[in-house]
Amino acid sequence: MVTIRSNARGTGNPDAERPGASIDRTIRGNQEANQRTGERVKMAQDLDKLTQEIQNSILAEERKIYSEKVVELFLNPKNLGQIKDADGVGVVTGPCGDTTQIWLRVRDDKIIQVRFLTDGCGPTISCGSMLTEFVKGKGINEVLKITPDELTLSLGGLPESHLHCSLLSVNTLRAAIRDYLASKREPWKRLYNVRKPSL
Ligand code: FES
Repeated sequence: MVTIRSNARGTGNPDAERPGASIDRTIRGNQEANQRTGERVKMAQDLDKLTQEIQNSILAEERKIYSEKVVELFLNPKNLGQIKDADGVGVVTGPCGDTTQIWLRVRDDKIIQVRFLTDGCGPTISCGSMLTEFVKGKGINEVLKITPDELTLSLGGLPESHLHCSLLSVNTLRAAIRDYLASKREPWKRLYNVRKPSL
């Protein structure tokens, strides 16, 4: 008599897979994938939290040194960028080796648009931001009267070691105005592109 031994899967074939095994595998695979995704999300959240903590501690240190206005403006500066075919351009490098550039669009001796860029420190960004906001819509003669001290005061003060940053911004603005006035006197130089920004 021939005896057919039934295996655990009930198919009679010892190599056959238990019914539902592939579904179990898929579920297990999905669970592991979900777990890995969850771990990655947690790592990203931990990293975000750490970054935020570091930023907060840096800002807390900055606030001990600089006024709230200075911190606010170097975090969110206004008028960053350049102006194509500007009417006046100033480029000045300060004693610290940092450079600021200011571009002006002028109509009837009134500044209608102004942009700046700098590779300087945070306070210099604040100075550029404050100064460019202030001069928008103002006449050239009025703007030429602005002093570094006034700029420093409007920012709630600067540490002694950073007073040259407001000087750099004001000097750059004056250079841009000189450039505008020179171009106004000799407009043909702009056509031949021989006029260089004042330094
Ligand atoms: S511009 Fe150089 S330190 Fe501020």
